[in-house]
Amino acid sequence: MKKVKWGVIGAGGIADRRTIPGMMLADNAELVAVMEINMELAEKIRAKYGCKYAYDNYQELIDNPEVEAIYIASPVFAHVEPAMAVAKAKKHLLCEKPIAMTVEQTKEIIEACKAAGVKYATGFMMRFGAYHMAIKKLIEEGKIGNVVSARAQLSGWFPESAKNWRQDKKLSGGGALVDMAVHCIDILEYMIGSETEEVAAFVDTRTFTYNVDDSANILIKLGNGAVGYVDAHFNVPDAAVKNRVEIYGTKGSVICEKTIGQIDEGNVEVYMSEDKGYDAQQDRTDSEAVKLDVEFGNMYTREIESFSNSILNDAEVAIPMEVGLHIQQVTDAAYRSAENKKIEKVLK
Ligand SMILES: NC(=O)c1ccc[n+]([C@@H]2O[C@H](COP(=O)([O-])OP(=O)(O)OC[C@H]3O[C@@H](n4cnc5c(N)ncnc54)[C@H](O)[C@@H]3O)[C@@H](O)[C@H]2O)c1
Repeated sequence: MKKVKWGVIGAGGIADRRTIPGMMLADNAELVAVMEINMELAEKIRAKYGCKYAYDNYQELIDNPEVEAIYIASPVFAHVEPAMAVAKAKKHLLCEKPIAMTVEQTKEIIEACKAAGVKYATGFMMRFGAYHMAIKKLIEEGKIGNVVSARAQLSGWFPESAKNWRQDKKLSGGGALVDMAVHCIDILEYMIGSETEEVAAFVDTRTFTYNVDDSANILIKLGNGAVGYVDAHFNVPDAAVKNRVEIYGTKGSVICEKTIGQIDEGNVEVYMSEDKGYDAQQDRTDSEAVKLDVEFGNMYTREIESFSNSILNDAEVAIPMEVGLHIQQVTDAAYRSAENKKIEKVLK
């Protein structure tokens, strides 16, 4: 099978923890080059995966004629410059979320990719979770009726650390909201099949002393009328978090535990009810949970295979960067809502 030759910028973080191991399992992708902030680290990662080239300079990786597609997984402040350089070099680009520090920067990257005629995607890999794909299909088939309400959660424990770019607004653009809530907003929109139009949010720093939010609690009103509640925290212990997703419709519900995360796993129960008219007894004894039949795999492998397939077959990209732009517009509205204490519209 033909393989897309990949280069990775910022290869030592999530790339090394998840995405490159996923890429190594992909049928249509081959890692050829990695870039890190120093040669020692770059060379260590190169050797670990047995790829050809290691760099401490992103432009050299981009200029390598063997590299066809580039995955940017550096901290958020270090996305824009390499992303623009990738587009200038007419190479395909998969960029981690959030794409950039501002909506305007993300628009510039998208325009540059369009002008270059390359494929461009956002790293919302949770869309490739086996349960999430199955739930999307179930909802599309109308199995739980019209979705009226939903909830998603992603939290963890991030105590103060002087070296952590996530805790410095100048380097991250924000905290729990842009780092974690974005996945929840995106996965709800994906499964329900509708985009957020309005937001009401409380976003603040309640526990730690850093200058980004450690708590994001937001209500999203989707275009189809459903309301979602998303909570993302840097101040809840990892072991205490169940990362639940709940989706309620006019004919049933989907309740998920631990499907939100980096491993394709979890437990999902689906409840479907026949319409028996109004039941004054509110009898809930007849609703038996249905288990969804899915095959677990690796969502990062699916992410890389999907984007590589788009490149090889000139096919539509599953999660184009416009999705990342939209989610950034939602988080902007959430910050405005928290500050203005008002419901805010998502501005295009
Ligand atoms: N989709 C996911 O599963 C997922 C998970 C975690 C993080 N992320 C995203 O990935 C990006 C990186 O997050 P992380 O958790 O890997 O951070 P990290 O700090 O763990 O790793 C970032 C890596 O980038 C390197 N780096 C730092 N400055 C750089 C620069 N100027 N140029 C190139 N490389 C540089 C660092 O040395 C480090 O190895 C962020 O955008 C984050 O939101 C995505």
